Amino acid sequence: MQLTLRVWRQPSPQVKGKMANYHLTDVSEDMSFLEMLDVLNEQLILDGEDPIAFDHDCREGICGSCGLMINGIAHGPEQTTTCQLHMRSFSDGDTIDIEPWRSGGFPVVKDLVVDRSAFDRIISAGGFISAPTGTAPDAHATPVPKVDADAAFDAATCIGCGACVAACPNGSAMLFTAAKVTHLGLLPQGQPERDSRVVKMVAQQDAEDFGGCTNIGECSAVCPKGISMETISRLNHDLLGALRANAVPAS
Ligand code: SF4
Ligand code: FES
Repeated sequence: MQLTLRVWRQPSPQVKGKMANYHLTDVSEDMSFLEMLDVLNEQLILDGEDPIAFDHDCREGICGSCGLMINGIAHGPEQTTTCQLHMRSFSDGDTIDIEPWRSGGFPVVKDLVVDRSAFDRIISAGGFISAPTGTAPDAHATPVPKVDADAAFDAATCIGCGACVAACPNGSAMLFTAAKVTHLGLLPQGQPERDSRVVKMVAQQDAEDFGGCTNIGECSAVCPKGISMETISRLNHDLLGALRANAVPAS
């Protein structure tokens, strides 16, 4: 395949970025999208140019680090991670726009790399349980209804990629926060901090530069793990309950 790539280049947060055009002439449809970018970077290095900075780690859809806007869609045309997207999803002669996540909460570091540490701060605010350390308890020592275990597992598949934020017209992080709140709030081990968790995580989300949720649903449509809007309903239910119960201080 021959491709024209229009890639966001921005040397640093202080410098204004712009799109740059590149041409590739021998792209295999079996390459992943990141492998295609590797080929482009090899070409740039051989030409003495600065390679394009982009985030990646596992390359198997589990670490969440590889998000890109591809032709204006978070992670591109398939509902999967950028590393699991293959060039067979494109056609010979295509022009492909490649940009970083666009959100106030995810400032650009360089080229296609953004700072997603806001997510870490939301997790630090409450995305954990307190449990005594020691030997692992028997798996069936704390019974969990199957329906709750399944829903908690589905929510736990969130990989923190940030596609939900990038796709949302409001730049909201609600689907991410809701997945974490739902994951822990459905399990017995998550009950002691259930009220304080949701209040603190939402407060931290609001303290970051994310927008509010207005139930548009773009987040769930691009989520590579299919996290549903139902998790946002669960979050709102828990948040209202916690605030009504005044279980936690307002701060
Ligand atoms: S909810 Fe989905 S899109 Fe958002 S961070 Fe988690 S896996 Fe990524
Ligand atoms: S590189 Fe880990 S999810 Fe894509």
